[in-house]
Amino acid sequence: MLQMDWLEWQKRVGDVLASNRVESDGHRYTRPAPSTYEHQWLWDSCFHALAYRWIDPAMARDELLSVVAHQVETGDDAGMIPHMTYWQGGGESLWGQAHRSVITQPPLVGVAARAVYEVTPDRELLATLYPRLVAFHEWFDRRRDPDGDGLVALIHPWEAGWDASPRWDEAMGVAGKFTHEVGRQARVALAARVIEYAGNAVELARAGFFHVEVMDFNAIRAADLEALAFIARELNKSSEVTRWQTQAEKIQGAIRAKMLSPYPHDLQGLDEKPILIESASEFVALFGGCVTQDESRDLVARLQSPKFWTTFPVTTTPLDANAFAPDTYWRGHVWLSVNWLIYAGLRRYDFVDVARELAESSLRLVEQENFYEYYHPLTGKGLGAHPQSWSAIVLDLLACER
Ligand code: GLC
Repeated sequence: MLQMDWLEWQKRVGDVLASNRVESDGHRYTRPAPSTYEHQWLWDSCFHALAYRWIDPAMARDELLSVVAHQVETGDDAGMIPHMTYWQGGGESLWGQAHRSVITQPPLVGVAARAVYEVTPDRELLATLYPRLVAFHEWFDRRRDPDGDGLVALIHPWEAGWDASPRWDEAMGVAGKFTHEVGRQARVALAARVIEYAGNAVELARAGFFHVEVMDFNAIRAADLEALAFIARELNKSSEVTRWQTQAEKIQGAIRAKMLSPYPHDLQGLDEKPILIESASEFVALFGGCVTQDESRDLVARLQSPKFWTTFPVTTTPLDANAFAPDTYWRGHVWLSVNWLIYAGLRRYDFVDVARELAESSLRLVEQENFYEYYHPLTGKGLGAHPQSWSAIVLDLLACER
């Protein structure tokens, strides 16, 4: 059983987030980790807001407002929310511009905004974010869904948030020769191609570069559109509620039709070749409401099998996979951001006992090791950047369990 109580957890989470916080240009945001990740990242800030909502609602709001502040306003990519914001500059060498990247990351701003609102109802925040969320999702449709099936394609693994997952080895041209360094160089080289092709997903695909319809990303997007429908309802925009709900259902339907068998997976290239590499991303299908209740039982049985349910669940790459490497970034660690998505999915489908076990084990990792970027699935050792802000998300797990 856990040693610390709610107040202690609030304090501990508040301290780590405060130590990583920055104020710049009238905005406040939280660095993922001061030494390794000093800028602002899109999905990290959403996780930060989910933790802040229990201790500092004003900061939860500021985190979401700062992450959308550099949304693209003109040109082909108008509406895109960048995966990185460089408040103090520094983006030139990778992106050819100082203050933002030219790719995105998992769309969780709507999900986070809704969650913040449920604790501290602030309609003004929803009203400010709404048009930005609309523009973001319209950008996805315009730029990333060339075949119109509802599933968006990513043009860089950084967009998925799972930078070095074995899922991308073939699409990145590193299959059979992957090392941490080979993978890193391939990602940096691809960033240059993305700029060269002005982020055009079809042209990048035709030239043989990364073009992947990522299952978990699309499931997250379905959940974000459901949140957008909720926000539209709160703002009395009743005619728009159906639009977002229908769009979420279209994505759920497309995932069901194209991505669920033999287990939830991604699709590569314009011809949608299945990427049959198992990973914990499969379970994010629950988060997006993409399976039936019957299918959810099979999926949860997979989750609880020893290949995924490690001493400290959930390993991102299954124990029995060739690529399993618990000492290599994104190839076998436990990431609490991923655990949060799986936890929320388990609750959505009413697997409350499994969810509780996952919450307890996630809290135990932080209790024992502190706030690390990720953890070893067998020993629980904290690894990577430290102190890492997004592991503060365990506070949200604890709050939901209370
Ligand atoms: C790493 C992770 C990415 C995260 C970023 C900041 O690049 O792969 O998902 O957003 O660090 O924490």
